[in-house]
Amino acid sequence: MIRKMTPTLRLVLLSIVSLIFWPTTVVKGEDPYIFFTWNVTYGTLAPLGTPQQVILINGEFPGPVINSTSNNNVVVNVFNNLDEPFLITWSGVQQRKNSWQDGVLGTNCPILPGSNYTYHFQVKDQIGSFMYYPSTAMHKAAGGFGGLHINSRLLIPVPYPDPEDDYTVIINDWYTKTHSALRNMLDSGRTLGRPEGVLINGKNAKGDGKDEPLFTMKPGKTYKYRVCNAGLKTSLNFRIQGHGLKLVEMEGSHVVQNVYDSLDVHAGGCLAVLVTADQDPKDYYMVASTRFTKTVSTGKGIIRYEGGKGPASAEIPEAPVGWAWSLNQFRSFRWNLTASAARPNPQGSYHYGQINITRTIVLANTAGRANGKLRYAINGISHVNPPTPLKLAEYYGVADKVFKYDIMQDRPPASDKAEIVMQPNVVNITFRDFIEIIFENHEKSIQAYHLDGYSFFAVAIEPGTWSPDKRKNYNLLDAVSRTTIQVYPKSWAAILLTFDNAGMWNIRSEIWERTYLGQQLYVSTLSPGRSLRDEYSLPDNSLICGIVKDMPKPPPYTL
Ligand SMILES: *[C@@H]1O[C@H](CO)[C@@H](O)[C@H](O)[C@H]1NC(C)=O
Ligand SMILES: *[C@@H]1O[C@H](CO)[C@@H](O)[C@H](O)[C@H]1NC(C)=O
Ligand SMILES: *[C@@H]1O[C@H](CO)[C@@H](O)[C@H](O)[C@H]1NC(C)=O
Ligand SMILES: *[C@@H]1O[C@H](CO)[C@@H](O)[C@H](O)[C@H]1NC(C)=O
Ligand SMILES: *[C@@H]1O[C@H](CO)[C@@H](O)[C@H](O)[C@H]1NC(C)=O
Ligand SMILES: *[C@@H]1O[C@H](CO)[C@@H](O)[C@H](O)[C@H]1NC(C)=O
Repeated sequence: MIRKMTPTLRLVLLSIVSLIFWPTTVVKGEDPYIFFTWNVTYGTLAPLGTPQQVILINGEFPGPVINSTSNNNVVVNVFNNLDEPFLITWSGVQQRKNSWQDGVLGTNCPILPGSNYTYHFQVKDQIGSFMYYPSTAMHKAAGGFGGLHINSRLLIPVPYPDPEDDYTVIINDWYTKTHSALRNMLDSGRTLGRPEGVLINGKNAKGDGKDEPLFTMKPGKTYKYRVCNAGLKTSLNFRIQGHGLKLVEMEGSHVVQNVYDSLDVHAGGCLAVLVTADQDPKDYYMVASTRFTKTVSTGKGIIRYEGGKGPASAEIPEAPVGWAWSLNQFRSFRWNLTASAARPNPQGSYHYGQINITRTIVLANTAGRANGKLRYAINGISHVNPPTPLKLAEYYGVADKVFKYDIMQDRPPASDKAEIVMQPNVVNITFRDFIEIIFENHEKSIQAYHLDGYSFFAVAIEPGTWSPDKRKNYNLLDAVSRTTIQVYPKSWAAILLTFDNAGMWNIRSEIWERTYLGQQLYVSTLSPGRSLRDEYSLPDNSLICGIVKDMPKPPPYTL
């Protein structure tokens, strides 16, 4: 499938081959380790003025940044000091051969209150900006999220000069209700309604002249801002008064470097921009405001010029209106084909436009009722997590006692009014198949999807209904390889990817009330030989729960 190997690609492939033995046989020439110990606790903060319960990591809200370099082994020992089971997922980090560390309920037993679990994963050549966040319950509504950077090793050049500094910007919609109150609303069949505000790094500037700056810039210097939307559901427009945003990277891909006045960052999405401090030396507002909502809610933060004088102007630049603007912006995002940085998807879909599609899966969101209560579904199936994680059931050879494969069709039911079925939703995908997934949004609100374990080529988003003849409109040359995609109301989005990463992987709506109420599924892709070449064995420290708890551990995979 790989026609021409670039030197970088060859390097990447070599480093992958050299990793096959990890982690069961640890030894020489190993890649560097970075260690973190995280204490997850409740705390009280007042991000919008009223004190409320939040989730802290080592006392921080948002949590600490993981600043890694490609090939680092990242080891995070997470102590759950909440009163509920908890997991963190590393959004967008590919976890090659290692769905064991994905931190979702289909792959991991939750970390019980008062106990800990040590995640161990290796970040590969996805040079870029990512985040982590809680995957359990509605914990994400209270915090527990933060930035995760993967920097380039020195031998792989990055297509822009080293910035003066590297800043992490977590933007999110915010509710003043606790995560348990929000969860109770969903459990009782109600929707969450509108968020009460927007935060930038856990705060919203008051604008009374006393706000502490979030960031400072030296006049004349250029800074990298990595922006991630960790919110529950709202797309946010990001902008900085008086400054252009030069887009350089999205979820691990270097892009063609256009300058934007503002950028829409959809739920679950991350991007990096360069900003040059080339204006009058004073304060400026960084702004994140809600998109596609009846009333616009705005979060602000101060950026201060070092040695600058004067407050930020109270005049906030206007946000764009409507979703056509956003769709046009999506179409302007292009992969930089000449950037010599590592390819985000080095396993073979580099010339993705020339690979024959082996399977097309059309996934449509549906909302409806099951047992009299609101549920969200994909193709009529509303996913429920069984007490035994799907991946453990599969590994222990007792999948048939926990779930059925392939209960969902590859096409949506003829009517959106079709009954919603609550069941674990696991799709069996043949290892290394090149697959087209169409996300259809039949509803009036914006949707966003995320796929764990992979980057995919986001080849099209269009209004209306998808049909095979729409393939002629796909970007088969320089679509950005990324890990989330938004789907506008009454529109569809198409992605292409090779399922070459064995494991059990979550596809979910990034609209969190939807994913909580079942709008997610898992794909199981296993290599035929169950070889260590393709997937790691169950790690020794894995938490074991459900029906496999007292079963003998299956023998590890072999080469
Ligand atoms: C975590 O934080 C809690 C609350 O501050 C504290 O009681 C506990 O000792 C901390 N645990 C660790 C492992 O630091
Ligand atoms: C992150 O790591 C890179 C590479 O080691 C280093 O150059 C950079 O200064 C670090 N950034 C921060 C914000 O610590
Ligand atoms: C929990 O933390 C201890 C160190 O404090 C560590 O030895 C142990 O392996 C951790 N448990 C898991 C399941 O990772
Ligand atoms: C793409 O990357 C190359 C190589 O680093 C760089 O010189 C070029 O400016 C980038 N192109 C665009 C359009 O951003
Ligand atoms: C793709 O399909 C076309 C038409 O069926 C066929 O001619 C071509 O050889 C296939 N290409 C590959 C790489 O399999
Ligand atoms: C999944 O698909 C593969 C390849 O088509 C097949 O060999 C395997 O039996 C399927 N597994 C299940 C559980 O259906």
